[in-house]
Amino acid sequence: MAENIQNIQSEALAALASITDKNALQTWRTKYLGQKGIVRDLLNQIGGIPAEARKDYGQNVNNLKTLLTEAFEKHEQTIAQQALARDLEEGELDITLPGYPRQPGKLHPSTRTLRQLYEIWAEMGFQVFHSRDVEHDDYNFTRLNFPPDHPARDMQDTFYTTEKNIILRTHTSPGQIRAMEALGDGGSKPIRVILPGMCYRYEQITPRSEIQFHQLEGLAIGRNIRMSDLKGTIAEFARRMFGQHAQVRFRASYFPFTEPSMEVDVECFVCGGQGCRICKYSGWLEIAGSGMVHPNVLRNGGYDPTVWSGFAFGMGPERMTLLKYAIDDIRNFWANDLRFLEQF
Ligand code: PHE
Repeated sequence: MAENIQNIQSEALAALASITDKNALQTWRTKYLGQKGIVRDLLNQIGGIPAEARKDYGQNVNNLKTLLTEAFEKHEQTIAQQALARDLEEGELDITLPGYPRQPGKLHPSTRTLRQLYEIWAEMGFQVFHSRDVEHDDYNFTRLNFPPDHPARDMQDTFYTTEKNIILRTHTSPGQIRAMEALGDGGSKPIRVILPGMCYRYEQITPRSEIQFHQLEGLAIGRNIRMSDLKGTIAEFARRMFGQHAQVRFRASYFPFTEPSMEVDVECFVCGGQGCRICKYSGWLEIAGSGMVHPNVLRNGGYDPTVWSGFAFGMGPERMTLLKYAIDDIRNFWANDLRFLEQF
């Protein structure tokens, strides 16, 4: 019997040595080492071996199996190397072809603008305060002095969840109340924060409006904060963001949570105020809403409005990026199209 195994071994190794291609190699493996191969067959025969010879027999077959497996693996490598050498020689493998260039990662244009804003506001003494995306409508509207029947509360404009009164914030202004609660220490401490974050509105998606976008809110609360502080702060921001000669102007406006309220325009940085397509030939670009924090809002945040005052503003990073690069379709921001993203 041992002799038989010996014969199989010599025959298998001889056959293996003469193999030069992959297919033949697989056939060899199936023949000797496969599920129905010779080695398996030898193992199956162990029942018919006299008891006293069984141990030796088993050992011999197992040794054969190990030996053939190792020989197979070694030969497989040899063949692969030979194939590679042949390809190189015959010129099938052109190692002079340049490889695929690796694309280094890049920041999303909105992230870049946001980081630039954080930096500028940090230099001006404003800390980042993160407020939640999923809000109570009480914070998003009521505590911000929205009357109960204000049109912004309409289902048409706001994403409501299945949970009662839980919505996706439509602006970052509810963060004003959250910041007052978290940092005001019962309405006794001044505050100077920016509140960046994603906002959501239930709107038709068009080149000009998206259902999600960033806002960057600002809030300053102190004992003697006046409108001149707001104007000076915004003007300084504009110089840092758009250049030393950036001009700003303030237009009277209305928000329920600020009184008085103002819209902020910056002189068009695309045409320098001459008038162009981007500024619709007005020479000005709207960049923020702002105003003095309404006494009711201060009260809702725990502050006594006869002692404390403050200003707030809200700006749109996507809008700024859009204007800066003259991007004509806001849907590009979340479309994940590399042809757009790689341009920044
Ligand atoms: N929340 C306002 C908006 O979404 C912007 C704003 C913020 C206005 C703070 C005034 C003060 O349009």
